[in-house]
Amino acid sequence: MIKNIKGTKDLLPNATLNIQDIERHLNVFMNIHGYGEIRTPIFEATELFSRSVGEHTDIVNKEMYTWIDQNDQSLTLRPEMTASVVRAYIQKQLWKIEPISKFYYIGPSFRRERPQKGRLRQFHQFGIEALGSPNPEQDAEIISMAYNIYKMFGINNLTIKINSLGSENIREKYSNDLKESLIKFKNKFNESEINRLEKNPLRILDSKNKDTQKIVGNNAPNIFDYISNKDNEHFNKVTNILDELKIPYTHDQKLVRGLDYYTKTVFELISSDLGGQDALCGGGRYDNLVQELGGQNIPAIGFAAGMERLILAMNLENNENISTDIYIINVESIYIPKAMQLADLLRKELGVAVYVDSLRRSIKSQMRHANKMNAKFSVIFDVENLKQNKIFIKNMNENKQDTILIDNIISYFESE
Ligand code: HAM
Repeated sequence: MIKNIKGTKDLLPNATLNIQDIERHLNVFMNIHGYGEIRTPIFEATELFSRSVGEHTDIVNKEMYTWIDQNDQSLTLRPEMTASVVRAYIQKQLWKIEPISKFYYIGPSFRRERPQKGRLRQFHQFGIEALGSPNPEQDAEIISMAYNIYKMFGINNLTIKINSLGSENIREKYSNDLKESLIKFKNKFNESEINRLEKNPLRILDSKNKDTQKIVGNNAPNIFDYISNKDNEHFNKVTNILDELKIPYTHDQKLVRGLDYYTKTVFELISSDLGGQDALCGGGRYDNLVQELGGQNIPAIGFAAGMERLILAMNLENNENISTDIYIINVESIYIPKAMQLADLLRKELGVAVYVDSLRRSIKSQMRHANKMNAKFSVIFDVENLKQNKIFIKNMNENKQDTILIDNIISYFESE
């Protein structure tokens, strides 16, 4: 038997109903905040991700699904969506058209991580990106939108962690000093931590290993001693606005995030209900990325969230299966095409859900199925009534039934 690939999931219709409902809420939420949906391809040139997410990140180093296509081009299934949004923005030169571009997206991303609860290889992200504003008000808008989305879905026990990484010009000095302060503890670190220290020292700050955290806590220099007054001011302004908006947050000086493009503000939303994989969403500023990928000097900020983690935090009940308003029951299979015709008319004229059985089941089992589908009405096609151009309608909830002329069916349901 061929099975699905580890770390991917099939969603049956009852589970998809939950997602459709979440997406409907998200679409409205984003639109009323002035963000429009962008859809980009799920695969891109590999270089897009290595240049933006970063050569030395876990994502680019070991988690991407990459292949060489028939034209010898290296292609990759997107591991995240920010890089694609920036690529599209640059390609369409959108800064020429509008001073600020606000996008949101919902779609699958792919990372070859070790699957566990809340961590998949094909997962779904929704997120937003605002390109064009360098101001702290924009940071505050993005963070408050992330917070309000989870509130909208009834998630409590939320913590927002926020930090600043300063601008690019301090990154090198801070990384070198960090490395220097920790290299003497090398023999206490595991292989992946040593690797981080060598190649991407900032990442050691958010190690989950308690012993490492202790060493880091006692010895690592504080990034706030490095960032410029201007960046410090920016950070303070962001937190002041969050205070005004009554959005709770904690300043976590160890928060660095796993992607290389960040500058200044970074943040994550954590839920204590999620267990090991506790990050509901994460994001930050990436003021240099548009230029680095060949565009103008355009500042930007955004975040992305895992749909599966939101669903875990929502603790949703399973839905019933697809339901219907009207179930047309055929006494004989020769009437099925006629029933299909009538179903189309009802759907078109009334916009209701109508189900016609194609299994040629007995009346009894069609009736049982109608009940299972929570049909409000069943319409029964039988020989005697049809001879007089009539049909029999049963209200499944109230003990009420009528025999009417087929021609009157629309007005009958309109008055129900
Ligand atoms: P990220 O932190 O790598 O950031 O991912 C964002 C969110 O996607 C995570 O907080 C998590 O909820 C979800 N996620 C990531 N990996 C997995 C996985 N393997 N399984 C399930 N869920 C996962 C980014 O992707 C950035 N592009 C965010 C951003 C947007 N920064 C600026 N704009």
